[in-house]
Amino acid sequence: MRVVVAMTGCSGIIYGVRLLETLKQVDGIITYLIISDTAKKILKLETQYSLEDLRKISYAIFSEDDMMAPLASSSFNIDAMVIVPCSLKTLSALAYGLSQNLIVRCADNVLRTRKKLVLVPRETPLSDIHLINMLKLFRRGAIILPAMPAFYHNPRTIADLIDFVVGKILDALNIRLNVYTKWGTI
Ligand SMILES: Cc1cc2nc3c(=O)[nH]c(=O)nc-3n(C[C@H](O)[C@H](O)[C@H](O)COP(=O)(O)O)c2cc1C
Repeated sequence: MRVVVAMTGCSGIIYGVRLLETLKQVDGIITYLIISDTAKKILKLETQYSLEDLRKISYAIFSEDDMMAPLASSSFNIDAMVIVPCSLKTLSALAYGLSQNLIVRCADNVLRTRKKLVLVPRETPLSDIHLINMLKLFRRGAIILPAMPAFYHNPRTIADLIDFVVGKILDALNIRLNVYTKWGTI
C-alpha cells in the first residue's frame, strides 16, 4: 500500500509525525511525505523532531515546491493520501482546485482518480468559509477528520490523545492497529 502523508502549517504537527511512526511499523506500507514550508517551521517550534528524523520514518520526502516530483502526476499510483494536520489555507486551495503546490496537486489527483483522501484540519473556531469548503470536499469524496481527541477512553497522557486521532486516521484507511481503546472493545 502506497500512502502519501502531507503535513501543512498547523499546530498539532505531531499528529503527522506519529502517523508516520505508526505506519512505519506496518509491513507492506510505503509512506511518501510532503511537507510545506510552514510545517517545517512548526515542526521545529512544537516538537523535538528534525527533518532528518522524518526522513528515517518515510520512504521518501518532498518539499511543497517540488512540482517535478513523481507525486505531481496521477500516473504515480497511490492508494491513499492523508493531510495531517491540514491547514485551512490548504483545505481552501483544494476546495477550489488551486494546485499551486505539490500537496494540493497530489490531493487533487487523489480526488480526480477517486482514491482515498483523509483531511485532518485543526483550527477553532471555524467560519462559514471553512465549513463550506469542508462540505464541498466531503461531497467530492474526501473524509473530513478534524483533530478532535475524545476522552471516553480515559487518556492519561498527551500521547494517548494524539494516538486517538492517529487511530481514527488508521480506521479511515482500513488499517487495523490497536493504537487507541475503542468504545465497546471486547
Ligand atoms: C505557529 C503557527 C500555528 C498555526 N496553526 C494553524 C492551525 O492550527 N490551523 C490553520 O489552519 N492554520 C494555522 N496556522 C496558519 C498557517 O500556517 C498559514 O495559513 C499557512 O499559510 C499555511 O500554509 P500551508 O498550508 O501551505 O502549510 C498557523 C501558523 C503558525 C505560524
